[in-house]
Amino acid sequence: MRNFRVQPVVYKGGKIFFLDQTALPAETRWVEIDSAETCRDAIKGLVVRGAPAIGIAAAFGMLAASRDAGKKGFEEYWEHMKKAKDLLAASRPTAVNLSWALDRMEKKILASRDMPVEKIQEIVEGEAVKIQQEDEEVCRWIGVHGQEIMRDGMTVLTHCNAGVLAASRYGTALAPIYAAKERGLRVKVFADETRPLLQGSRLTAYELLESGVDVTVITDGMVASVMSKGWIDACIVGCDRVAANGDVVNKIGTYGVALLARAHGIPFYVACPLSTLDLATPEGRNIEIEERNPSEVIRFGGIPTAPEGVHVYNPAFDVTPHPLVSAIVTEKGVVRAPYAENLVKLL
Ligand code: MRU
Repeated sequence: MRNFRVQPVVYKGGKIFFLDQTALPAETRWVEIDSAETCRDAIKGLVVRGAPAIGIAAAFGMLAASRDAGKKGFEEYWEHMKKAKDLLAASRPTAVNLSWALDRMEKKILASRDMPVEKIQEIVEGEAVKIQQEDEEVCRWIGVHGQEIMRDGMTVLTHCNAGVLAASRYGTALAPIYAAKERGLRVKVFADETRPLLQGSRLTAYELLESGVDVTVITDGMVASVMSKGWIDACIVGCDRVAANGDVVNKIGTYGVALLARAHGIPFYVACPLSTLDLATPEGRNIEIEERNPSEVIRFGGIPTAPEGVHVYNPAFDVTPHPLVSAIVTEKGVVRAPYAENLVKLL
């Protein structure tokens, strides 16, 4: 199997770069991040996207802010960092990994408050690097535990992109597929396009192809038809947040895929790190769903695809109710219903 080693966030020679995912697959270009503001803009603009990658990006956004802070006393440093944290936290509301990573950076800073600011800046750098390195290991374990749901010769349908490009390596939904390939299992993937921004066709198809995985792109409207032909053995998707009852928030269209899977008797799996679990939120309907610019729906590459002035509704995510979820694959193992009990046990 070919090895797709591109990472969405790269820290090299003391500089922070994000792979510009808005340009893929046509172009590989990098955006340098030198402040909390440039990081916020990159997250908002989907230069970097996908729940774990957003968390990693925000941690490096804090590192950029930390360097801006000057070398005054702790109070001034913290005031600067708190502003950066709030700015980054507001960049995208749905993926809980963002606030998870920012809270972790905050804790680290506050625990070091008695040290000189130069030392705290080193600690901030170390923590950002650690968050990224840990994610690689976490995703590897999702792949290992995910073997419980993989079979030789199977075909998996996935939605959006929850692969290497959405994490630091392996991804979440794609980790069991990559691990199965490494074991020599034959696995095929159907990637639905994922309107409106085509993360499925632009990103998932790209990274699977680069990795030598057999992948077929379909439009979102073809999912039912493909399932009805008996071509899909399982669905595996990533997610942005899991509520305490097991409801799952993921890219808009995931709920539809889950309903279609149920109608066709196909298992529907969710893969995510523990940092995506939000047990403080009781149900999916309590989770804020990001609404994005209408232009994403009525224009593509600057070309109008709907009449100017039409009403547009553009939620970026939807909620899949837990009864539709066959299992959740995490780095600590595979969790099944009842989720309210079993997620707590897992943590
Ligand atoms: O808007 P995006 O591209 O950030 O949405 C990404 C998704 O919905 C992914 O499926 C999710 O973040 C999981 S990524 C491992």
